[in-house]
Amino acid sequence: MRLITGNANRPLAEDISRYLDLTLVSADVRRFSDDEVFVEVQENVRGEDMFVIQSTSAPANDNLMELLIMIDALRRASARRITAVIPYFGYARQDRKVGPRTPISAKLVANLITEAGANRVLTVDLHAGQIQGFFDIPTDNLFAQPVIVKDILDHLKGETPMVVSPDVGGVVRARSLARRLNTDLAIVDKRREKAGVSEVMNIIGDVEGRACILIDDIVDSGGTLVNAADALLENGATEVYAYTTHGVLSGHAVERIQNSRLKSMVVTDTIAPTPEMLACSNIRIITIAPLLGEAMRRINNEASVSSLFD
Ligand code: R5P
Repeated sequence: MRLITGNANRPLAEDISRYLDLTLVSADVRRFSDDEVFVEVQENVRGEDMFVIQSTSAPANDNLMELLIMIDALRRASARRITAVIPYFGYARQDRKVGPRTPISAKLVANLITEAGANRVLTVDLHAGQIQGFFDIPTDNLFAQPVIVKDILDHLKGETPMVVSPDVGGVVRARSLARRLNTDLAIVDKRREKAGVSEVMNIIGDVEGRACILIDDIVDSGGTLVNAADALLENGATEVYAYTTHGVLSGHAVERIQNSRLKSMVVTDTIAPTPEMLACSNIRIITIAPLLGEAMRRINNEASVSSLFD
């Protein structure tokens, strides 16, 4: 097996290569003077089992084009099999037609990746599980939860906190974490009683006197987690921690988290952390590299990937 990366998250690719004790295939992935993507794979990859590591995070369009063009280069270089390793699969939030004349971007991007020449996809915590079915090639959707559970057990000693879903849509994920930690579950239910009246946050479950862990797949503006933390504290929670897989953190999100009442927010490195994130006192990064590396090893060995989660 050979690994290659674009520019989206080189530190993660290097950590995976260290885990697998492999060097990254040398490649020149840069821009023409007009900003088109230029790719040149600088080693022979004929007959190899290739893994292209590239999140389609911001700048999403550039990173997606790098991924597509790298896959095309590998296919034309006669790689035996190409697995697109996409730790963060962007363009996942338009996954169905919510109104007339809207696209299904997640399906379009899945088609582009397949058409470019990928034979398999490996990703982590897809925003919606059904996106797996948008690919007509084998797609493994890993769960970051084992990594998150380990961090919770390592860092939060004493009474196990209550797990809280920050919205109704995240209940399945939160229930699964609560089960793994053998603790209780609460849900933040956001409601707008009348149009034009501000949202009310109701807490389903008794959080009085309890420490709470919010769990979500994506933190983007930070609004969902920060508002949920405020609601929990106003309902008697003693302290609130947050865990999310993908730290999108656009705009002023890092500042918002820094100024929030969240004791800490932990994100995995599916998206390369920015210097601002690394400098933020209540954001901590945990790595997903061993989980991805192990899944890649198993794909290469034709071994079970699901047994990673047993
Ligand atoms: C929503 O479906 C997602 O699970 C996240 O809750 C959402 O993307 C977070 O966005 P933000 O941080 O902007 O509130």
